[in-house]
Amino acid sequence: MVQTTGSELGSLPPEISQPNIFPLSWSADSTQAAKLEQIWAASRREYWDPQALAWSSFDAGSYTAEQREAIAYWWALLSVFDASAPPVFAEALIRTYEVHEEDAVRRCFFSIERDEQNHEQMCGMAISHLTPGGPLGYEPTTELGKQAQRNVKWLYHNGARYWDGYKKAVGRYSLPVLFSSFLMGETAAATLFHHMASHSKEPLFADAFTKIGRDEGRHMAICLTLMERDYPHLSEDERKIVTKQIRAGYVFLSGVLFEPPQEFWDLPEDFIATQRACEEVARSAGFGVATFDEKKDNWRKAMLDVKGVVERHNIAFPAIPEVGITGEEVTNVDYEDIIPVF
Ligand SMILES: [Fe+2]
Ligand SMILES: [Fe+2]
Repeated sequence: MVQTTGSELGSLPPEISQPNIFPLSWSADSTQAAKLEQIWAASRREYWDPQALAWSSFDAGSYTAEQREAIAYWWALLSVFDASAPPVFAEALIRTYEVHEEDAVRRCFFSIERDEQNHEQMCGMAISHLTPGGPLGYEPTTELGKQAQRNVKWLYHNGARYWDGYKKAVGRYSLPVLFSSFLMGETAAATLFHHMASHSKEPLFADAFTKIGRDEGRHMAICLTLMERDYPHLSEDERKIVTKQIRAGYVFLSGVLFEPPQEFWDLPEDFIATQRACEEVARSAGFGVATFDEKKDNWRKAMLDVKGVVERHNIAFPAIPEVGITGEEVTNVDYEDIIPVF
């Protein structure tokens, strides 16, 4: 074969500086590529549309005003997490292109992006059917509803702080380190929605939670597959960061999965009492939100799953005394410096 050089062909463009967003390659080099292709195929098969759910059979008028406001509160709480997911994963998707990830990895991240957008849309639709005007624009009619709206404002304030932190931190870490935070979020979400699906009496909500839970299970599988691929090669420093990220992930995600701890969360003293009151009313109206003990139990099980994964890769798991898990003491987490993921 005749070798041609640049000079014979005419001038070539300058070397492209990296990272550059265009990979111009569709590689499938790792041993995990086939597994990632399967997850991608599942994401297409299992695609669902929030607008196509049985909204016509949902009668918001069958609930009292207090019940509607309490259930809408829970969807608003969820939306503080789920409405931040599309921008969070959009950043991660861009990273997969910048670092010229394998083709299937890019598509898997695209599927997460698309799914999270659905989850966000579902939150918005549920809230506007129950309390037209949305979490901030609706005029509450009950005392509990008024307290709940104040809680939402505080949640929104914390979500905004988190986004600033994320933007500052996301560029600092490698993708494998980001996966550890994402795994926390996905494991926690899969656990949460599984419970909600099996405990919700309203068919529309049970259906939505089943579908969201299935999506989160796939997202978890993507993180686990990438960890299998990359974690054997992590540096000592990266391993230490993962331990910290997991402790921080626990703190952030407790906001929706358990109860927000004082660490990081900036909330008024009566916040938790209002949240408990809303959840009590929602639960007695057939909404499948877990009780304190069920949450603690679910959260502990999800954390133990994550513990099993990271310890298999010789990474220390942090102590999480709140749910009775012993491990490495992690103190002084600098929340400006970590990747919080909701
Ligand atoms: Fe989600
Ligand atoms: Fe997810």
